[in-house]
Amino acid sequence: MSSSQWTALITSTAPGYVTDTQPAAHARKAIRLGYDIRAKDFGANSSHQQPTVPKDFGVKSGDVVLDIGCGTGRSTVPLVASPASQIVGLDLSRGMLKRALETLPPTRTSLIEGDAEVLPLGDTSIDHIESRRALSHLPDQCTVFQEMWRVLRLGGTLDITQFGDRILGRPIERIFRSVLRDITGARATTLLGLFRPPSIGSIEAVSRAAGFETVDLHATTTHRRVDPERAAHSLLLATTYICAQLDTAQQTSLAERVRVAAKSQADSDGLADWTYEIRLRARKTVS
Ligand SMILES: C[S@@+](CC[C@H](N)C(=O)[O-])C[C@H]1O[C@@H](n2cnc3c(N)ncnc32)[C@H](O)[C@@H]1O
Repeated sequence: MSSSQWTALITSTAPGYVTDTQPAAHARKAIRLGYDIRAKDFGANSSHQQPTVPKDFGVKSGDVVLDIGCGTGRSTVPLVASPASQIVGLDLSRGMLKRALETLPPTRTSLIEGDAEVLPLGDTSIDHIESRRALSHLPDQCTVFQEMWRVLRLGGTLDITQFGDRILGRPIERIFRSVLRDITGARATTLLGLFRPPSIGSIEAVSRAAGFETVDLHATTTHRRVDPERAAHSLLLATTYICAQLDTAQQTSLAERVRVAAKSQADSDGLADWTYEIRLRARKTVS
């Protein structure tokens, strides 16, 4: 995809910029809009590795399982093979959920359009919560963990993977952030705040503060070299929730400049790149 094709993808479907002055409302709408746009090709471009979906934790026969930020159902589908009686996928983006609807079998599954920070579910109604690569978008992780605590029954479990802070040190991220600051000035701080991968320590701190007992906490880093064009393309797509907030001239400039800078920083083996994912498994042991 050329940079003009990329700009067309972002602008052709964007119904407009998000203009709320209230930061949390702004963030929620920008994320929803970004994923609505991206839904049509989500998962098609995978210079990022696919998320690992563990199969070894928590789900027992008859359980009600919730997948927070289920997206197109990529992280929900593996749960269908579990003995759960009901699998609920929740996501902010209707576009992503429409794709999930096409993917998931109709029996034992249901989808909810909703916000992880205000779960539209009753107290102690869920046995197990999963969430894959969704929570780094949330401005306030404390609220999410309190909500997960509220909806989980006593003895219930959660199993979360999310990108952690070290992912921001990748060369392509540094390039993107620097070019975006150059193009948008002070507004870049708000835009870049739409993706806030936490440290491993802060995840455990908010989980404990909500009342969870940690079962396992670890981070995995996977290093590789990538083609700079591909790295630029992949990051621009992944940050649609930011790019859709720019005007067409800014989008074109961003795409060109990120590509040029990525090429200039690559050597004959490509550009250094890595993923950094944190996995937390925890249990509600007291009510
Ligand atoms: C990178 S995708 C991951 C989707 C899926 N879990 C997977 O692994 O393929 C992140 C998803 O989180 C959703 N999301 C972001 N913020 C959310 C929120 N506050 N509440 C619910 N879903 C949210 C997005 O709409 C998007 O579908």
